[in-house]
Amino acid sequence: MIKGVIFDLDGVLVSTDELHYEAWAKLARELNINNYTKEDNKAQKGISRMESLEIVLKKGNIAYTEKEKEALADRKNNYYVEMLDSLNDSAVLKDVKEALAMLKNRGIKIGVGSASKNTPLILEKTGLEPSIDAVSCGIDVTKSKPDPEVFLVAAKKLCLPPNECLVVEDSYAGVVAAKAAGMKSLAVGPERKLLEADYDSETLLSETDWDLMLKISYNF
Ligand code: G6P
Ligand code: MG
Repeated sequence: MIKGVIFDLDGVLVSTDELHYEAWAKLARELNINNYTKEDNKAQKGISRMESLEIVLKKGNIAYTEKEKEALADRKNNYYVEMLDSLNDSAVLKDVKEALAMLKNRGIKIGVGSASKNTPLILEKTGLEPSIDAVSCGIDVTKSKPDPEVFLVAAKKLCLPPNECLVVEDSYAGVVAAKAAGMKSLAVGPERKLLEADYDSETLLSETDWDLMLKISYNF
């Protein structure tokens, strides 16, 4: 049986994906990289800040030292955190609050598994923090998705074995990470059909779907 659901943050619980894109686009423009697009941003979903930076820099033809790269990643993060200043509960995506309440009523533990080091700040600003039993994020891990570490840490914090956890994701790296962690996965978001998750759904609110997913028990 599934006893815990681990949600990705950006693009699953909150609409911060757009802000990540805007902050990277601003940095790209300053570096005279004018061909960074939303398509490139798709490949940045779920992966770490430094790996995301590499995707932007690949669009230009300048080589940077590690120290310079760290400064560029910090610069992007400063833009992003500035944008988060006005973040509030209106950034919580459709059906999320209702789905979290429904899971809580069923005695399901709720975790967050995200590469973002800004996870605690975002959960606090959007008012989601009290609904979450355990947070595992970029601060807790050394390897980012598709490595399973972030989800394994979340399961540990929830005191559940991996095979009793279901991951909700909107990124390919995240679905691969869930599988590598030995967890079932539910894909949401515009790319959900392409992510090769165990399930995909347009809405987080279908009680029948949750019943089906939560009842799954499987052997390793
Ligand atoms: C999430 C987002 C990525 C972002 C990463 C790191 O996984 O989907 O686009 O690069 O978090 O976020 P951070 O807030 O630590 O820069
Ligand atoms: Mg995401």
